[in-house]
Formats: sequence, structure tokens, C-alpha cells
Amino acid sequence: MNKEDIKKLDQEYIVHTYGRSELYADHAKGALVYDVDGKEYVDFGSGIGVASLGYCNDDWLAAVTEQAGKLQHISNLYYHEPMVLLAKALCERSGFKKAFFCNSGAEANECAIKVARKYGSSKSPSKTKVITLEDSFHGRTIQTLTATGQDDMHKFFGPFSQGFAYVKGGDVEALKAAADDDTCAIMMEVIQGEGGVNVMDEEFVKCAAALCAEHDALLIIDEVQTGIGRTGKFFAFENYGVEPDLVTFAKGIGAGLPMGGVLFNDKTQEVLQPGDHGTTFGANPVVCAGALKVLEKMTDEFMAEIKEKGDYLMEELSKIPGVKDLSGIGLMMGFNIEGKEPADVANACLEKGLVVLTAHGKVRLLPPLVITKEDIDRGLAVIKEVAEA
Ligand SMILES: Cc1ncc(COP(=O)(O)O)c(C=O)c1O
Repeated sequence: MNKEDIKKLDQEYIVHTYGRSELYADHAKGALVYDVDGKEYVDFGSGIGVASLGYCNDDWLAAVTEQAGKLQHISNLYYHEPMVLLAKALCERSGFKKAFFCNSGAEANECAIKVARKYGSSKSPSKTKVITLEDSFHGRTIQTLTATGQDDMHKFFGPFSQGFAYVKGGDVEALKAAADDDTCAIMMEVIQGEGGVNVMDEEFVKCAAALCAEHDALLIIDEVQTGIGRTGKFFAFENYGVEPDLVTFAKGIGAGLPMGGVLFNDKTQEVLQPGDHGTTFGANPVVCAGALKVLEKMTDEFMAEIKEKGDYLMEELSKIPGVKDLSGIGLMMGFNIEGKEPADVANACLEKGLVVLTAHGKVRLLPPLVITKEDIDRGLAVIKEVAEA
């Protein structure tokens, strides 16, 4: 189909919840995406941090293809090998004790909030408050939308869930004032992705951990965007020297197939019992087989390469005249260009063959973790051209 035909059907048959950009994707490999006319794009977005191994990685493709031909689904009422191998690999890589698998970031956070509420209310009926951060993003279900600390997301869909409080990221005093014995969890992204690539400072994150310990609340770190190597650590919280009770993940673990999940530590591993939670598709064997390949790549050497590529990208961006407000760690970064709106920058880049994202007043980059230096340089050249225009 050509672009016009695709657009026409999209407008006629798809509910308009997205403002789409003019990219008509046909196929992709590594960090390169090709449209229906064969135009090549360097992708600095990886489908919003999903294609961690790039597009159609050979090992991942072989694993999911083989598994799809063997057992494509089985209910969570039964056992299967890819699920248990993935849980073991994740726990061994991260030091957590147990895993729960679902299908998306929102579901992962929904699960973590349920764990916190069950944990808290088993201590005291009023211990149900979840503290989250302003400018956070935790998902689109009613509960995770409520957890999301952005007023413009709290329109239309009320009544919203009770029991959430919001604190500005970095405001230690406000966090101390909000936390009390009725708090069952503090939940945060250590780098807010959708909120504009806002990097939390160590004092604030450590304060959250200390308050959780003081009030017997759970520290939940949402690693949906930052996890699975994105910042050059397997999880971004490792940059902060804290030990969360629950970690949620999604996006990069599935490398393009839908997967989310929660990791539980000693304190939380027994909270959920049979019947408390579940999902039809979670821990799908095909997705698990692919995710195992993702984990195999997550060696310390690979983490060091991600960090090195991220530092290089950041350094080169900072040399481009007009680039400002640089933030981020590893291959997750945000910036602005003097005098230009982020959406205009993204459109101009797209026209010149570079895919970039935007987030709350910033241009945002989440390239595939396997991106080559050559493709980074190609992308940088486009950003430079756009900044100069
Ligand atoms: C930090 C964070 N949490 C949760 C979500 C929601 O994930 P999903 O869209 O897979 O439900 C996102 C999505 O962008 C995210 O960045």
C-alpha cells in the first residue's frame, strides 16, 4: 500500500488517540527503519525504548520463531520452560527473588500498586497511601493514570482512585512531609521519561528509600523506560545505591513483543497469593523466549558500551550550537534547540531521515541499545542541520 492509502484507512478506521507523524514504516533492521517508498531513517526512538536489540535482531528472531513453532501459548494454569528460565535469569541478573510477568508497563505498575496496597492494609486498614511524583508517568489504566502526577491526564475519566499523593521530584522536605505511617509505597521513575527526561538526584532517591524504611512502606521503582540496560546499568536505580522492594519493567525486555513484569525482593515475594492477581497473556512462551535472548546480551561489557555510546552522544550534542537543556544518562536523553519547539525539531529531523521523540517540552532520544557509532554520527549530523536551519 502507498502512504495515501494507509493514511486514508487509518483516518477512517482507527480511533484517533494519537497525533501521528509522517512515517509510514514498512520494515527495519538494526537502528534503521525503511518506509513504504524505501526511504531510510536512522531511528533514535526505538519505538519509545522498545526495540532494545534494534529491529529484527537475528538471535531474538530465531528464538521467537522457533518458540512460535513449538508452543505459542499456554495458560498460566500450567508450567512451561521459557517462563521459568526467564524468571531465573532476571532474578540472577538483578538480585531480586521472584518475578511476575504481564504485558505492558501499565499492567506492571498496576500489579506493584496492588502488592503495596495488600502489604500496607495487612498492617493497618488505613495504610494505603501511595506517594508518586509530579511529572511522572506510570500508565493509562485508571489506577496508573491516577498514580501519574500530571494534572492534564486527570481530566475526563473520573472518579479516580483514592489514596494517591504527589510530590515534586527533588523536593526532599515535601517528600518527608507527605510520608507517614499510612503510606504503603513511594513510587517513582529515577529518570522521568515522558515527564521530560528529568534525572532525580541521589539525595532525593536515598531519602525516599529511608522514608520507606522508617514507615514500613515499599519503595517501588518504575523502570519501564529506564530499565534493561537503557542507562548503562541493568536497572537505572543501580546508579543511586538504593534497593527497591519492587521494580517494574516492560518495553526493552520484550525487544518488540509485549511484555511487562514486576520483580519482588525478600520482603514482598510472598505478598501475592493464588487468586490475588493474574493475566491471560502474561509470560507468553514466545515473548519469554525472545526476552531470554535480550537478557543474554545484557553483560557488563554491553552495559559499558551503552554508557560509552551515551556519553559520546551527549558530548557531541553539547557541541552543537543552539542545543541546550541536555539531560539524561546512557542512551536516554533529552534536549532543546534554542528558538525551536520540540515537535518542530522532531518533524524537521523526520523529513531529513532521523526519528526522534518528544517528551514534555523536550526532544527525547532513546536509540536502540545496539546502535552503531556510525548511525549515531548520521543522526547527529541531522540534528546539527536542523539546529542550523
Ligand atoms: C515510566 C513508564 N511507566 C509506565 C509506562 C506505561 O507503559 P505501557 O505503555 O507499556 O503501558 C510508560 C510508557 O511510556 C513509562 O514510560
